[in-house]
Amino acid sequence: ARIKGVEFVKSSGRAKDCPKDDRPEFAILGRSNVGKSSLINALVHKKEIALTSKKPGKTQLINHFLVNKSWYLVDLPGYGFAKAPEAAKMDWCSFTKEYFLNRDTLVAVLLLIDASVPPQKIDLDCANWLGRNNIPITFVFTKCDKMKVAKGKRPDENIRDFQEIIRQNYKIHPPWIMTSSVSGMGRDELLLHMSQLRNY
Ligand code: GTP
Ligand code: MG
Repeated sequence: ARIKGVEFVKSSGRAKDCPKDDRPEFAILGRSNVGKSSLINALVHKKEIALTSKKPGKTQLINHFLVNKSWYLVDLPGYGFAKAPEAAKMDWCSFTKEYFLNRDTLVAVLLLIDASVPPQKIDLDCANWLGRNNIPITFVFTKCDKMKVAKGKRPDENIRDFQEIIRQNYKIHPPWIMTSSVSGMGRDELLLHMSQLRNY
């Protein structure tokens, strides 16, 4: 699972504007600020190919990155940004849902879950929605390096709580990987996982 090259291809405001070739792709989805763009940069070892920010709401379009000239990583706008205007929230729903329901080349969604906070209802709702629409998910827990939290639980405890809720309430059993874009934890495992899914 070696990265030989990555190039930014295009930003699309609508699902129907996405690249039309038949290369397989993985969508990176999760709450605003969960670390989607950072994960892309960490995976491909490029500092700022995907733009990141401390402020949520940085990524606003569907961004296609072509890896090794053979498959795509797709950076998406985050959901659940409380301060977004109502119009922007609605917009997220319509265009990303349109993308998920019509993208035939989508291999799986990497659903990013912030391991430094307790389980969030919006993430569970999102997993449930994808599951109901038969879209394959991999849970990618982010920020697992954040071992010192002022109060509350450690990342491994938050992950355990999240898995427990899924196990008790949902019919889905997605694979999961612990990552950190700061330490590089989980990078090789995730690249290998994606190569296995592509060849399946
Ligand atoms: P939107 O585009 O706004 O939806 O956000 P995003 O999910 O793309 O998040 P982004 O990658 O821009 O990162 C948000 C913030 O979290 C930045 O300040 C990052 O430096 C930080 N961050 C991302 N990943 C990690 C991680 O693994 N560990 C730590 N400690 N911080 C991280
Ligand atoms: Mg982003």
